[in-house]
Amino acid sequence: MQDLVARDLSSLIHPQHDPAVQRSGRVWVRGHGAMLVDADGKEYIDGLAGLWNVVLGHGRRELADAAREQIETLAYASGYAGSSNPRAIELAERLARLTYPAIDRFFFTSGGAEANESAIKVARSYWKLRGRPEKAKVISRELGYHGTTLAAMSATGIAGYWPLFEPRVPGFIHVPPLSADALEEAIVREGAETVAMFLAEPVIGVGGVIPPPDDYFPRIREICDRHDVLFAADEVITGFGRTGKWFALEHWGVSPDIVQFAKAITSGYVPFGGVGVTDAIARVLDEAPGPWMHAFTYSGHPVGCAVALRTLQIIEEENLVAAAARKGVSLLGALRAALGDHPHVSDIRGKGLMCAVDFMKDRVRKTPFAPEEQVGARIHAEAIARGLFSRVRGDTFVLAPPFVTPDDMLDRIAAILTAAAGAVLR
Ligand SMILES: Cc1ncc(COP(=O)(O)O)c(C=O)c1O
Repeated sequence: MQDLVARDLSSLIHPQHDPAVQRSGRVWVRGHGAMLVDADGKEYIDGLAGLWNVVLGHGRRELADAAREQIETLAYASGYAGSSNPRAIELAERLARLTYPAIDRFFFTSGGAEANESAIKVARSYWKLRGRPEKAKVISRELGYHGTTLAAMSATGIAGYWPLFEPRVPGFIHVPPLSADALEEAIVREGAETVAMFLAEPVIGVGGVIPPPDDYFPRIREICDRHDVLFAADEVITGFGRTGKWFALEHWGVSPDIVQFAKAITSGYVPFGGVGVTDAIARVLDEAPGPWMHAFTYSGHPVGCAVALRTLQIIEEENLVAAAARKGVSLLGALRAALGDHPHVSDIRGKGLMCAVDFMKDRVRKTPFAPEEQVGARIHAEAIARGLFSRVRGDTFVLAPPFVTPDDMLDRIAAILTAAAGAVLR
């Protein structure tokens, strides 16, 4: 491993590049089920399913077969207007049945940020084609994460992603995350005639796993309708079962106008994502006087579509949405049993199989630890040493294991996190 890390440091630039972090990093060489294996042969529970995406776990032969068969048959052909392929058509048809009833038409991308870029461009073009070009602003939420391309970064409401890359794209506004009134106030303040869309994750993920109150999204839907603002749900993490429903707004009986997805759709085996829109939006694009000049070389990639189709089939056949719901309850229960009374745990929360544990100096007054104490990073390191690889945001430990994680491993996750916290916070 040491040799690989040294070569890595002199040859790669990483997402969230940070050589100090990389120096103590792991190089992964294999995976099986919910386990990752590093270059020294040591095994770890994949506590975040890769980056929330490897829902079927590692080493699924069916997905390898689906990719190989498609590569042998047709590895690639243009997806631009005038070209298509059967897998892309089948996937779009399947998604029309799986996603919200009103969402019937799909544009495919290579990942989540491209899905959000596409959603933003769908919304802006929709209003322009309807003769309302001034409706161009995008409202999103503080703590929301939508990717790091420039527009997605500008929609992202975590300020740490901005400074090195500013100026941000103009016309992006952030509102507090859990107040529907704050959205309405922002729409009124900006002028509804200038607002194209509201963009939100049903459960904030990267920002710290924050589920909304039950009345939040029903009110968001009403407010967007009242002000003629499109509502785009970023389901890049929550889509395809993570929260215990196929799509997360189903928890609250709400349907968006646009839905963005990526990650779980191929279980992370190949890069893939996309955006679904209502018939009403698709019709406006269909009837435009000229072509819609938004495009990616890899839109509708046959291999991505083939792996997505097989992933969705497995999620259905193995009842993994229900499994995610049930295992989420188990994991949350195990975390609460193990850490609920811990003097430095101020909150344990989750929705389906995405959970978070907040560590604080004073759990009652909710006083955080000083950042220089690096409590979260140290708990993360202690968890790794005990065979659990996941992520922290500040002093919040985040968990989202594969849907196929065995029940006893969920208990083990809670036990490792408890031991790791004990080692740091004696
Ligand atoms: C909710 C959400 N949207 C968008 C993205 C960006 O996806 P990608 O990294 O594939 O561009 C992420 C990635 O974590 C995400 O969690």
